Amino acid sequence: MNKNQAQTPLQSEGEINTSERRQAWALKTHDDATFAALEADARHFIHQSVSSPCLSVIAKAEGAYIEDLQGRRYLDFHGNNVHHIGYGHPRLKAAIAKQMDELPFAPRRFACEPATALAKKLSDISPGELSKVLFTTGGSDAVEVALKVARAATGRHKTISFWDAFHGAGFGAASVGGEQLFRSHVIGPLLTGSEHVAPFACYRCPYGYPDKDGKPQLELCKMMCAQFVRYVLEKEGDVAAVIAEPARAVPYIPPPGFWEEVRKACNDHGALLIFDEIPTGLGKTGRMFACDHDDVAPDILVMGKALGGGILPIAAVLIGEQLDVAGAYAFGHYTHEKNPVTARAALTTIEIIEEEDLVENAAILGQHALERLDEMKTRHKVLGDVRGRGFLFGAELVTDRNEKSPADDLAEDVYYRCLDKGLSFKITMGNTLTFTPPLILTRAQMDFALDVIDESLGEAAQAHGLG
Ligand SMILES: Cc1ncc(COP(=O)(O)O)c(C=O)c1O
Repeated sequence: MNKNQAQTPLQSEGEINTSERRQAWALKTHDDATFAALEADARHFIHQSVSSPCLSVIAKAEGAYIEDLQGRRYLDFHGNNVHHIGYGHPRLKAAIAKQMDELPFAPRRFACEPATALAKKLSDISPGELSKVLFTTGGSDAVEVALKVARAATGRHKTISFWDAFHGAGFGAASVGGEQLFRSHVIGPLLTGSEHVAPFACYRCPYGYPDKDGKPQLELCKMMCAQFVRYVLEKEGDVAAVIAEPARAVPYIPPPGFWEEVRKACNDHGALLIFDEIPTGLGKTGRMFACDHDDVAPDILVMGKALGGGILPIAAVLIGEQLDVAGAYAFGHYTHEKNPVTARAALTTIEIIEEEDLVENAAILGQHALERLDEMKTRHKVLGDVRGRGFLFGAELVTDRNEKSPADDLAEDVYYRCLDKGLSFKITMGNTLTFTPPLILTRAQMDFALDVIDESLGEAAQAHGLG
């Protein structure tokens, strides 16, 4: 995009990264060098929604901050959930450099110490009895492996997953994913047998039950969202696995007892439970894994993102010993499946998370953030719902609290106002400000971000006549 183009709407069918609001923001924010870099990016990269053309250009990433080409710093409350230990942690950089000197690569069929040590460490920290591991380079591939293992171990192929979930970009992952953007129209056809049910979403219960200030009214709904999983498992009778994010990235946390119910239903019908902890694993929600809050262990767990410490790409699939039943076949066979450098990065990242008490930090400061947002809700009537756990939390904006009418345009306005004040985050589902800060965040940084949100909400609500 250049300055001339930015004056006319670029939004063509299927190209939705360039709203008018974004163009206006770009015009007042970017200099010529930034426009030139964005133009080069747009020229060379395949265009896709929520990616290229890009928002801005990054020149530095350090600790909890990213910095653009013009030297503006943003506290990064998104970070694609890779930045648990902050960007460029000195101890991680040193460990990676040392590993590169000692052993830079392991060709397939050769075992190596860092990969084995990481496999052991992951089974030690993961819930339940997950003692066997396979590494991939990205989360999407890890989901493909999980689905194949489930097929091999059950002799079945069907899956149940949730609408609005995201599990990655591969055909398997897109099949179990529930967002139109990643599975419909030009993307299909997808895997057969990929069934979907409506997810838990208490503030906007898809089954139509009322909530009490975002909280479920279980005596009324009888947790229909869990009962429906059981219903489909029973009707089909041959489902291989239920796959889900234990805490939804949107964000939504499950009603109490949800996973226990689904776990029981899976057990009753011979289906495996796969938890996708790619964004939530390693402490994001204030426990090492999001499912630890629910005391429910999956049969298969996938994780990734922060595992590489925000520097290197590595993801993992963990399964129980009893599912390791198809050694004559190949599930992954990935070029980097035992890469010693990515394995060392992951090992060191986990050491840092443990030694710096980062999971506890996310639990404490996440609670503080929710309390402050709850207080803001008493002053900003555009705040419809505030929810989350640890460092996965969000605020859903509405134009009318009774109607719960989504305030998408307002959310976008708040977003650019926050960027202008030095805070970056992500909008999900059109109207939900979604915050996933790094686990190294200090209380002062959290309060700075919350002040920015508070101020921007007030300004934007005024500007939209909703103050
Ligand atoms: C829940 C979930 N699953 C899977 C993935 C895919 O991971 P990757 O982008 O590493 O392929 C993501 C990425 O955002 C995710 O959030």
